[in-house]
Amino acid sequence: MQKNFHEALQDPIFRTLTKAAKELDVTCYVIGGFVRDYILKRGTAKDIDVVVVGSGIQLAQKVASLLPNKPKVSIFKNFGTAMLKNDDIELEFVGARKESYHRDSRKPVVENGTLEDDQNRRDFTINALALSLNEADFGDLLDPFDGVSDLERKIIKTPLEPSITYSDDPLRMMRAIRFATQLGFQIDLPSLQAVTKNKERIKIISKERLVDELHKILASDKPSLGFSLLHKTELLPYILPELVALQGIEEIEGQRHKDNFWHTLEVVDNICETTDNLWLRWAALLHDIGKAPTKKFHEKLGWTFHGHEFVGSKMVYKLFKRLRMPLNDKMKFVQKMVLMSSRPIVLSEDYATDSAVRRLVFDAGDHVDDLMTLCEADITTKNPKKQKKYKNNFKVVRQKIQEVEERDHVRNFQPPVSGEEIMKTFNLKPSKEIGIIKEAIKEAILEGEIPNEHEAAKALMIKKGKELGLNLA
Ligand code: CTP
Repeated sequence: MQKNFHEALQDPIFRTLTKAAKELDVTCYVIGGFVRDYILKRGTAKDIDVVVVGSGIQLAQKVASLLPNKPKVSIFKNFGTAMLKNDDIELEFVGARKESYHRDSRKPVVENGTLEDDQNRRDFTINALALSLNEADFGDLLDPFDGVSDLERKIIKTPLEPSITYSDDPLRMMRAIRFATQLGFQIDLPSLQAVTKNKERIKIISKERLVDELHKILASDKPSLGFSLLHKTELLPYILPELVALQGIEEIEGQRHKDNFWHTLEVVDNICETTDNLWLRWAALLHDIGKAPTKKFHEKLGWTFHGHEFVGSKMVYKLFKRLRMPLNDKMKFVQKMVLMSSRPIVLSEDYATDSAVRRLVFDAGDHVDDLMTLCEADITTKNPKKQKKYKNNFKVVRQKIQEVEERDHVRNFQPPVSGEEIMKTFNLKPSKEIGIIKEAIKEAILEGEIPNEHEAAKALMIKKGKELGLNLA
């Protein structure tokens, strides 16, 4: 393996770093993700971590003063780190440290160290690779733990004994799984075992940092790799117990239901082939969580999960709240997808009437395509005949959606007769009759009794008003 990486350091910013370090008489190195991703040919990262044998803050300030547009330096005094942005590059400076973190808290103990001390306290050998920015050996690779060969062998391994590395910062247990998922790497066996041993320590990690890792797992090409590792290492109950509850197959009187945990992971992988929408991926992950609390065995019906969509959508709120995720329109979107997740299936199993399709489009609104994407991903049967049939059924539903949409415009439905027009027509003050008439018009449109047009709706308004004993103005 090449030992000098001049080529990775073409951007003029690196020469500025060299100059600044020389002026301060310190040494500095690019370390971490930038080096790893360069060697993996994952492109040149724009987030660059710089470790300084000396003060990170002073070096950041010196670099800023040498740059033509004098960027602002953000200083995090408690951590002894500093950050600056130059064009699209974000530089993070940290002084080399001997120590990592206190147990049971994430407050760092800052004790100055050598480059090697600092590399020792990093999470994985593949993240401890450093390139020199110093004049004498500019571009040289410093790789004390043979991280390059771990990159080649596709191995995630800690530089120190894994339990030490993980108890320094338990988030690293999730990072190991996240990197394994993103890169398609294997976690070294002792490392994997150490995760299980230290699993409880994940409790001290903030929800925000956990969710950040979950997002990264979900954003990867094959999130099932990550979720099955979270399951295998027994971290998952601390993070998403709702998913763990889906695992297992029960059998009563010879009737079995599918294992909804493994099914869910397949659905997530499927949906990742068609969408990058993170929240739709979340919806795939959570679409069946209501099945655990609603599972029942009926003598006649066998296994049922009655109302699991409704229960699941309520669980989404609790889950988002517990994980301190945003309780905003993203959460509502996930809830809506979970709540509606069986609707297209019901349609596809039977002959889909126009009115049923109109109701689906009306209820799903702009999210009807996402809902169809979720349902298509939900097909996990291994029977090729059935698979073809289901896919085809959904194709038919999609076609019908398009036809109904072109004709009836019920997506983002705007009532063709406004409340104001009703009030004027019957000389009414705001009252419940207005609601009754509007509802009747909406129902008639969805049922296909009248077209979604003003004239037809007006005629129905007058008819309905008369039935309610109202007089025309
Ligand atoms: N690091 C660590 N322990 C952590 C977090 C980070 O040792 N819990 C070190 C690693 O050397 C890592 C570097 O800090 O490479 C930068 O961290 P970060 O920016 O979070 O990760 P990257 O490796 O840059 O990867 P990505 O951007 O994909 O998260």
